Amino acid sequence: MKEIKSSLIHCLLLLNMVSYVEAKDNETGELLFRQNCNVCHRGGNNIIIPEKNLQKETLKANGMDKLEAIVYQITNGKNGMPAFGGRLDEAEIEKIGNFVLSNSWELEKSF
Ligand code: HEC
Repeated sequence: MKEIKSSLIHCLLLLNMVSYVEAKDNETGELLFRQNCNVCHRGGNNIIIPEKNLQKETLKANGMDKLEAIVYQITNGKNGMPAFGGRLDEAEIEKIGNFVLSNSWELEKSF
């Protein structure tokens, strides 16, 4: 009984660590987003092409609601959006992508 209890505690500790790591990754994603993307996408908006914003429904409608699609666009850029492939490494780009996907932005209704 004691052993079961102790392995249960181990399991819980491990689970805790996993979610801690995920939370940290998302924090890094948010920081990188603020440093690299906020100029154009503050609050999930798009100051250059407003209808290409980062709201969940918009991403879905544009086929951009998948990590690979977002990673591809961050790496290679598109139209008015610069390519970040030379400035950010793959892991950083993935963290930003996950941050974008995990967000539910309420857009400023300025357009
Ligand atoms: C100089 C302004 C600018 C910066 C900086 C910028 N973007 Fe963009 N972004 C755009 C423009 C313009 C588009 C629309 C591109 C198109 O589809 O024609 C866009 C589109 C997107 C889309 C697709 C939105 C949709 O609904 O189709 C995503 C996702 C995105 N950007 C994420 C990012 C991320 C993450 C960063 C930071 C690493 C970033 N952008 C930095 C201008 C920018």
